[in-house]
Amino acid sequence: MSDVTLDSGFLAKVSAVAEAGARAGGEVVAKYHRTGVEMRSKESFNLVSDADIEAEAAVVRTIRETFPDHAILAEEGHRADGNAEDLWVIDPLDGTNNFAHKVPQFSVSVAYCRCGRPMCGVVFNPVTGEWYTASRGGGAYANGERVHVGGQRGLSEALVSFGFYYDRGAMMQATLAAIADFFGNDIHGVRRMGCASLDLCWVGIGRFGVFFEHKLSPWDFAAGALFVEEAGGKVTTCGGEPLPMAPTGVLATNGLLHEVALEITRRHLVDIMGSR
Ligand code: IPD
Ligand code: CA
Ligand code: CA
Repeated sequence: MSDVTLDSGFLAKVSAVAEAGARAGGEVVAKYHRTGVEMRSKESFNLVSDADIEAEAAVVRTIRETFPDHAILAEEGHRADGNAEDLWVIDPLDGTNNFAHKVPQFSVSVAYCRCGRPMCGVVFNPVTGEWYTASRGGGAYANGERVHVGGQRGLSEALVSFGFYYDRGAMMQATLAAIADFFGNDIHGVRRMGCASLDLCWVGIGRFGVFFEHKLSPWDFAAGALFVEEAGGKVTTCGGEPLPMAPTGVLATNGLLHEVALEITRRHLVDIMGSR
């Protein structure tokens, strides 16, 4: 991804639209959280519901009111190229499994990207009312307050958060092996919260020193990865490369822990192309 800068007026405009989109999607998700909704299986353990689909429609409608020509990459049915010049990357309901079980750890995640590079991002939990917003060069904010990553200097001072994709084979084994290695470094503990976008934001606000997952999609990480960087942290693939706007492993840290965490995730790399 080459370096890109945006005119500040345009950045303010896309940021406002991202927030409006997340709010519109959040209203749908919150409504179904209250009333309940039938969950269906997309494939194996991967669930979907009318909440996911209607929330995506609400976010997309909001964006198209202002930017009818922009490309859209969204989980439930919009498949633009990740490197499109003006691209919106949307997860209308990140943490569907939590949503299905009434665990209030899910979000609407919306990012605007220029040529594959996130320029602004919003992650909104409509039940707890947590808002995480970031714009490139403009910092990261939690409910309007400027935030920074934590100061954990070693793994022995950190909580490590992680995720599993829906694969229960090689990828799960590689994740468990990496977790065993993290424990070998005397970490304070692990957390599997079930919502990658919020996991990333919680690195940005200092709760987690490390988050990793062997396979995520752009809609899971586009907004949250920008949030971590703008909060002063670092995000790469699990092998240490810059993130592509495509399915990839993700390692996010407070920056200070990146090299030591990378040593572990590199040891357990998996071929994500062969997995679901
Ligand atoms: C999932 C969540 C979960 C992560 C999975 C994602 P979804 O997104 O972010 O934490 O482990 O890899 O697919 O399916 O709930 O939108
Ligand atoms: Ca997701
Ligand atoms: Ca989703």
